Amino acid sequence: MEGYTVNGQTVEYQTLITDSVDEAAERLRLGQTVIFPTETVYGLGADATNPAAVLEIYEAKQRPADNPLIVHIHDLAQVEELAHRVPAYAYKLMEHYFPGPLTILLHKQPVIPDITTAGSPLVCLRMPSLPISLEFLKACNLPVAAPSANISGRPSPTRWQDCLEDMDGRVGAILRGPEATHGLESTIVDCTGANPVLMRPGIITLEELAQLIPGITAHIPNKTIALPGMKYRHYAPRARVFMLEGGSQPPTDLLEPPVAYIGLEPPVFETDFQLILDSPIQYAHELFAFMRECDRKGMLQVYAQRLPEKGIGRALMNRLNKAAEAHL
Ligand code: TXA
Ligand code: MG
Repeated sequence: MEGYTVNGQTVEYQTLITDSVDEAAERLRLGQTVIFPTETVYGLGADATNPAAVLEIYEAKQRPADNPLIVHIHDLAQVEELAHRVPAYAYKLMEHYFPGPLTILLHKQPVIPDITTAGSPLVCLRMPSLPISLEFLKACNLPVAAPSANISGRPSPTRWQDCLEDMDGRVGAILRGPEATHGLESTIVDCTGANPVLMRPGIITLEELAQLIPGITAHIPNKTIALPGMKYRHYAPRARVFMLEGGSQPPTDLLEPPVAYIGLEPPVFETDFQLILDSPIQYAHELFAFMRECDRKGMLQVYAQRLPEKGIGRALMNRLNKAAEAHL
C-alpha cells in the first residue's frame, strides 16, 4: 500500500498513481487532470482545448481565475496550430531551446479557449525535454495546459510525493517519474513584440539568451505589464522567509526558533535545520524541496542567503524574494 504517515498510521493515497504513460494519457484524453513530471518541476495537466477539464486545474490548485496556464507541446508543428504572428527570433529561440526549460509567449489561435489563458489573447507555449514528459505529451496527442502541481502559493513540487502532499484526492491521476532535474520553473520570454522580453527568469539565463538574441531585455517591474501570476503570493513555505547576506547574522530580536537556513556559506548563528549547497545551480535544485521539508519540520523562520542577481542567481532571487514578500 502506498501512502503517507499521520500519527504513525499509514493513510493510503486516494489518487491513482501510475508508471504507465499510456494510462496517464488515456485519463487526460478523457477530460481528467493528470500530474506529470518535467525537467523543471511537476505539472498539473489537462486538455488545453477542453474548458471543463481546464476548469478542474484551477479548482484543484485553488488558482485565481485571472492567472493563465502554460500550454505544453511535443512537436514544433503544434506551434502554428496554437499561435500566430510568430516572429523570426521566436523560431530561433525554439530551434535552440525546444525541447527544454524555455516558455515563449505568443498570440493565441482560437483553438485555445479563453479559460486556458484567463481571457488573454496571448498564450504561453513550452516543450519539456524530460523523455517521460515528451512520451506522455505524445501519447496525449493534445496540447496540455499545465501549471506547477502545487496548491497556489506553495513551493512548486520537484518530486511526485510532493505533488500528492498538496493534490491527493484532487486530481485524476499522477504519472510517477524522477525527481525534477532542475527544480526551478522554466524561463518565460515574451515573443509578442519587436524584441524578446524576459518575463520570468528561470533555468535558461538572461546572459545565455542574450548571446543568441542580443536584442533581448529584462522585464522592468511596474513599467510594462508583468505576468499575471507574479502578483500573487508565491513559492512560500508556511514559515516566514527572510533574505540574508552570506556570513551575516539576523537581528537577535527577530530570531524566532525553530529557525532554518539555506545558502552557500554556513550560517554564523544557531539553526534547527540547515542546508549548505556547493553552487547556485544546486541551490536552485534544492530550494523548493527544502521549503517543503521546513514545513514538515515545523520551522517558523527560514533564512536564505542572498546571491548576486546574475546567471541562475537571478531566478533564485526572484523565487526567494517572492517567498519573502508573501509574509510582508
Ligand atoms: O517550468 C514550468 O514552466 C512549469 C512546468 C510544469 O512546465 N510550469 C509553471 O507554470 O511554472 P505556472 O503556472 O506555475 O507558472 C506560469 C507563469 C504564471 O506566472 C502565469 O501567470 C504565466 O506563466 N502565464 C501563463 N500563460 C500566460 C499568458 N498567456 N500570458 C501571460 N502570462 C502567462
Ligand atoms: Mg507555479
